[in-house]
Amino acid sequence: MANNSSSSGFSHEKVETSNFLMIVLILVVILFGGLVEIVPLFFQKSTTEPLKGVQPYTALQLAGRDIYTREGCYNCHSQMIRPFRAETLRYGHYSVAGESVYDHPFQWGSKRTGPDLARVGGKYSDEWHKIHLINPRDVVPESNMPAYPWLEKNMVDASVMPAHMSALRKVGVPYTDEQIAKAAEEVKGKTELEATIAYLQVLGLALK
Ligand code: HEC
Repeated sequence: MANNSSSSGFSHEKVETSNFLMIVLILVVILFGGLVEIVPLFFQKSTTEPLKGVQPYTALQLAGRDIYTREGCYNCHSQMIRPFRAETLRYGHYSVAGESVYDHPFQWGSKRTGPDLARVGGKYSDEWHKIHLINPRDVVPESNMPAYPWLEKNMVDASVMPAHMSALRKVGVPYTDEQIAKAAEEVKGKTELEATIAYLQVLGLALK
C-alpha cells in the first residue's frame, strides 16, 4: 500500500508507523466520541427535568435515604430497572432518568444480591418492612439479607436535616425555606427504622 499513499503528504502509512501520532489520533477520536455521547445529556430535558409527579424527598424520607447509604444497602440492591422484558415483568416500568434528578448521589448500581428496589414503594406494608428489616428471616425464611435490628433503637439525628436540605438545594433540589425550617421538627422523635421505611415506600411511585 506504500506506493499509492504519499501524494497527499499525509498518508495512512505515516500514522501507522508513528507510535506517537497513532496515540494522539486515537485519543482525539475517543475524546470526540465521548463528548458527543456525554455533552448532550446535560441539555436534554429527559435527563435534566424531573418526571411529572417526582417530588423532592421529605425530611423523613431523606433521613431514610441517608441510612440506606450508611448501611450499604446498595451493595446488594440496585435501583435501576433495565429496559428488558424479563426486568419489566418482574419489577415494572423500566427506570427513566427523570425519576432520579433529585437523587444526590443516585443509587442506580448494578449489584443485585437482592432484588432491584427502584419500584419497591407500595409493594409491601410498613409492617412487613419493619419485620423484614429487623430480621429478614421472619418473613422470608431463605433470605440471606443481614438483619438491621439497631434501626429500631436509633433515633434520627434531627439537627443535621436543615443543613443537609440546604446543601441539596444548592445542587438543584427545589426545597422551600419553609420545608427546610420544618425539617428538624418533621423527623424529631422518629426512629431510623421509620425513616428507612418512609424512604422505601416512596421509591418508584411516580411511574408505577
Ligand atoms: C448482603 C446483601 C444484602 C444487603 C446488604 C441488603 N439486602 Fe435487602 N435483600 C437481600 C436479599 C437476598 C433479598 C431477597 C430476600 C428477602 O426478601 O429478604 C433482599 C430483599 C429486600 C427487600 C424486599 C424486596 C422485594 O421486592 O421483595 C427490601 C425492601 C430490602 N431488601 C431492603 C434492604 C435495605 C433497606 C437494606 C439496607 C438497610 C438492605 N436491603 C440490605 C440482600 C441484601
